[in-house]
Amino acid sequence: MEISIIGSGYVGTTIAACFAEVGHDVVNVDIDEDIVTSLNDGEAPIHEPGLDELVEKHAGDRLRATTDYDAILETDATFLALPTPSEDDGHIDLSIMEAGARSVGRTLADKEGYHVVVTKSTVVPTTTEEVIAPILEEESGLELGSDFDVGMNPEFLREGSAVADFLDPDKVVLGSQTDRAATVLRDVFDPLVEQADSPPVIETGVREAEMIKYANNAFLASKISLANDLANICKEYDIDSEEVLDAVGLDSRIGSAFLGAGVGWGGSCFPKDVAAIVAAARDVGYEAKMLEAAVEVNDRQPVRMLDILRDHVDPSGARVAVLGLAFKPGTDDVRNSRAIPLIDALLDAGADVVGYDPVATENMRDHFPDIDYADSAAEALADADAALVVTDWDEFAALDDEFDAMTDAVVVDGRRIVSRRDGIVYESLV
Ligand code: UDX
Repeated sequence: MEISIIGSGYVGTTIAACFAEVGHDVVNVDIDEDIVTSLNDGEAPIHEPGLDELVEKHAGDRLRATTDYDAILETDATFLALPTPSEDDGHIDLSIMEAGARSVGRTLADKEGYHVVVTKSTVVPTTTEEVIAPILEEESGLELGSDFDVGMNPEFLREGSAVADFLDPDKVVLGSQTDRAATVLRDVFDPLVEQADSPPVIETGVREAEMIKYANNAFLASKISLANDLANICKEYDIDSEEVLDAVGLDSRIGSAFLGAGVGWGGSCFPKDVAAIVAAARDVGYEAKMLEAAVEVNDRQPVRMLDILRDHVDPSGARVAVLGLAFKPGTDDVRNSRAIPLIDALLDAGADVVGYDPVATENMRDHFPDIDYADSAAEALADADAALVVTDWDEFAALDDEFDAMTDAVVVDGRRIVSRRDGIVYESLV
């Protein structure tokens, strides 16, 4: 099939390359000339394992990029993969989606034949039907339900394994309003489903598809917060939370994934998506108490980490090493990293902060240009009075002699990965 994708961010580029890989002809439309050039030269504009190879393999053949929206006229379906950032009150900001829909709508005015516009971005229920579809109708002059349809196809890609997650998904969710749109979506995903060992395909309505994405992320984030709540109780009783949660995870109704207790969840999705569905629910008259509590528990974990530090060291004037700045290992992304509230609190308390991360230092400089950054964990620890372990990078699990350089070393481990050893005061958060 011929598919157009609007947006060349981490989702847009990944799905463009993966659709090409399963045999479709794909055009990726973006306003950024540099990204378009890079894609056409066979270079992925973002780093995701496996993406470079796919872009290199298909660029100039089944995958091309352009700044010209007219490219969508030759395609059967257009996927909107544009950012939906957070507003201060948690609502999503739809301005980029609306602008994208306007451009698509204006272009579709010249379209001959049927077309489906599919929302790929995470949007709160009813957005596709009540915001995107009316814009498309107004701008194109076409009739929804006969000339064109809208659809919704949420993504469940994790940063760092987006390509693998897309090509081998746990499920495929196809939301549509008409049989005709459902058929197009099925045709788009059939080759992927066949290649991926037939994951379940959920054919559903558009607003159901929108909600499935939020429900998925809200569930995972809440699962971690519940694990953190339970682990905090364990800590008060001097119970090993890992033993407890490992045992709990063996119940097949619960499962062991996302029970990793620690300093909590960050990233570009969980915080934004939980805030957005809580805000959207409030707009329709419902207070999502469990989800509000999940956020509260998550916000409290860095505070608890600092409280534990204070039991041993007065942060005022102390040199504190923050090990791990990325929101999770395997990425240089610092968006909503738990290191951010921790460093903020340390600075408020008058600490002298030195940060270290194997890859995310440069991105954290934008948030905290004035703290020190070390080139290695050893350098960060060398003259530190205390260390806080925030990201579960493997290299932190291997730290050993590096602690010798610290005087009366206090290590507060927010991810339970540092090996206990003589010579340090070791405290785990959970
Ligand atoms: C997440 C979802 O997993 C993905 O399906 C969705 O499309 C986008 O959001 P991502 O943000 O890449 O993906 O990260 P993920 O691996 O899910 O981790 C999110 C956060 O939870 C990280 O900060 C991680 O450290 C934390 N986490 C994860 C825990 O604290 N404990 C766990 O057991 C698992």
